[in-house]
Amino acid sequence: MRCAEAAELFSGRASWDLTPSPLAARVAAWRARGLPLLDLSDSNPTRCGLAPAAALRDALAELAADPASARYDPDPRGDPAARSAIAAYHGGALAAEHVVLTAGTSEGYAHLFRLVADPGDRVHLPTPGYGLFEHLAALEGVETERYPLRAPAERGGARWRIDLEALAAGLTPRSRALAVIHPHNPTGSFVDPDDFGALRALARERGLAIVSDEVFADYALDGARPPGALAGAEDGPLRFALSGASKLLALPQLKVAWIAVAGAAALRDEALARLEFAADAYLSISPLAARTLARLLPRRDEIQRPVRARIEGNRAWLAERIAGSTRVRLLPAEAGWSAVVRVEGEPDEDALVLGLLERSGVLVQPGYLYDLGADDEGCALVLSLLLEPRDFARGLDALLEFVEDRKARS
Ligand SMILES: Cc1ncc(COP(=O)(O)O)c(C=O)c1O
Repeated sequence: MRCAEAAELFSGRASWDLTPSPLAARVAAWRARGLPLLDLSDSNPTRCGLAPAAALRDALAELAADPASARYDPDPRGDPAARSAIAAYHGGALAAEHVVLTAGTSEGYAHLFRLVADPGDRVHLPTPGYGLFEHLAALEGVETERYPLRAPAERGGARWRIDLEALAAGLTPRSRALAVIHPHNPTGSFVDPDDFGALRALARERGLAIVSDEVFADYALDGARPPGALAGAEDGPLRFALSGASKLLALPQLKVAWIAVAGAAALRDEALARLEFAADAYLSISPLAARTLARLLPRRDEIQRPVRARIEGNRAWLAERIAGSTRVRLLPAEAGWSAVVRVEGEPDEDALVLGLLERSGVLVQPGYLYDLGADDEGCALVLSLLLEPRDFARGLDALLEFVEDRKARS
């Protein structure tokens, strides 16, 4: 608590512990001293030389020349041209009126949590996973319950499976939604079609919605992606798929994302009408940004190609570079922008991450930020695969040298 009045003045929902973690404090101090920092956790494509500058320039020039850009005629679900482009992206599985635009995927989560859950109700999230979703739920007064994902067996491929028994055991009468990340961040695993089937059955039986975050769906390593939440669009429980320009078009600054809604028609349309009401209260999407998205979505192959090449190149190099290491191992993945490495003999993630920072100015993410727990034998680190290859190689060399040095000294 920073000051005495705060406890009375601010809501319980806003009573976050704002004390920086030891790692965040050290990084801030490092930056404040003006020391060079090589951030191997940077997953902002525009800082990694991957912004689709030419396509963006074309789209903005077309918009500038379009007289419609000078008018404001808002549509609460978002610009119709953008929604048509999104429906086409989803391969005709749904129509433009089944899409609601949001200012980023995070806003989409907020709308959905508010749509299905009252304060004190529960949504179920996978673990390991990214902590952002808990914060988004808490901002809406919604509680979260983590359900476990089971790592693939050694040499058993890259697919993590949902522990369906544990998920079902965590359900209560206040459960409202089951969330999945497809493919997951940071494991890079798609939701298995059998698990999706089981989730649909569970959702139907218990009257729950399915929220499927599909922001990385286009970044499958072999190009093949199993179906997402929208498959069989006219049928089944209420399902929401989230995606957006931030990952799909490597354009986080566009701030346009969307919720696509599927399920039995009456329920789907009711959900859309309510989402439209909430979106109308904010009208948070700039039509100019939405129309930029409409122009860029059809060019996504060209935009994603360099991103895919970067990810594949860095992943291949990482695998080759650590092939001889007895301490560092790359976990298999199917998709996404991250790599998870397991470091044996290093149970203390902060000692490893802070030690590496102090020694070489290289920053990596400790696995605990994603609930990738350390054990007596070792820990996990998460690396962004978006970095320029030279930077990626330099950072990785520093990490491997540091790990070998610590081993020699232990
Ligand atoms: C799986 C996943 N979903 C959503 C987001 C947030 O995306 P947006 O920038 O569209 O809010 C992130 C951010 O990294 C993410 O990793």
